[in-house]
Amino acid sequence: MKTLILKVRKNLDKEIKIASNIIDNGGLVAFPTETVYGLGASAYNEKAIKKIFEVKGRPLDNPLIVHISNLNQINEITNCLNENARKIIDKFWPGPITIILKKSSKVPDIVSAGLDSVAIRMPKNKIALSLIEKSGPIVAPSANISGKPSPTNASHVIDDLNGKIDCIIAGGNVNVGIESTIIDLTEEPTILRPGKITPKQIEKIIGKVKISKGDEKVVKAPGMKYKHYSPNAKVILVYSKDVSDLIKKYKDKKIATIGFESELSFNGGLNSLNKNLFRLFREFDKQGVEIILVKAFPERGLGLAFMNRVKKASSEVFR
Ligand code: TXA
Ligand code: MG
Repeated sequence: MKTLILKVRKNLDKEIKIASNIIDNGGLVAFPTETVYGLGASAYNEKAIKKIFEVKGRPLDNPLIVHISNLNQINEITNCLNENARKIIDKFWPGPITIILKKSSKVPDIVSAGLDSVAIRMPKNKIALSLIEKSGPIVAPSANISGKPSPTNASHVIDDLNGKIDCIIAGGNVNVGIESTIIDLTEEPTILRPGKITPKQIEKIIGKVKISKGDEKVVKAPGMKYKHYSPNAKVILVYSKDVSDLIKKYKDKKIATIGFESELSFNGGLNSLNKNLFRLFREFDKQGVEIILVKAFPERGLGLAFMNRVKKASSEVFR
């Protein structure tokens, strides 16, 4: 299959029309959001949604997020909009937070992987919003092959999915760089996946929230149980302040660091680390890096999301 790559100019109308036609005809379109690139299909086209699972190599028991562009659409997706949901929507949408509510019968079972709940979010990106406005609700997992780091630029989507999907809208770099915060609002509010919107920010709006450790007997966000975000290089999570011993130990290997100073390194605050983590994983792979040392941060605020992603990508810990 030839993948149509649409470059975005100032006036989006023509590109959005083409992409929206593809979605309406059961095709797959990758598009930017503020968090990461998504791989979209119409939320009501089961055949198209099946193709998403196939091209990503995604297990069928891992449900998808329904993306909407206006609040009328939410009533198609759920009949159970509660007080907490309203408050979160008011404060954070459009933006990088996904809410889980009981699903309506209009949402195909393949979207929710058979669960009676559904994940919903309104992304803060003009391209994404225009596309959804034209085609209606769109399901979109991150536009990477399952297990790989999520794409933060169209070139990452091309690397993973060129020739396998109908269209990629190339809309530059994303802002956030890690996937949305997910909060389950079907019962006691519980953060299932940490992200840019922190527990503290949420608690200001709806009061105390639980934070899932992902080790409940019933896994709440099925996606969280799979290995994720892994570059080909071996990722070591480093709690020690000093990496010089580790660098000595691996002196025969090509090493890169994230959060430390070294020859091949990226450093910055947590906002910038989150924004660049997946990009760095992919770029270090291209440069043939064999070992990536990543600095451990306290698991609070933005550090919670950073550590969540790094822990899933790493295969070793150094203290
Ligand atoms: O930022 C994002 O959320 C990006 C962009 C493209 O919007 N999307 C994204 O989708 O990260 P994906 O499919 O890569 O991750 C969705 C996560 C998975 O861990 C999945 O298990 C969880 O959401 N999820 C979806 N529906 C759920 C449900 N009904 N209950 C619990 N978890 C759910
Ligand atoms: Mg994903």
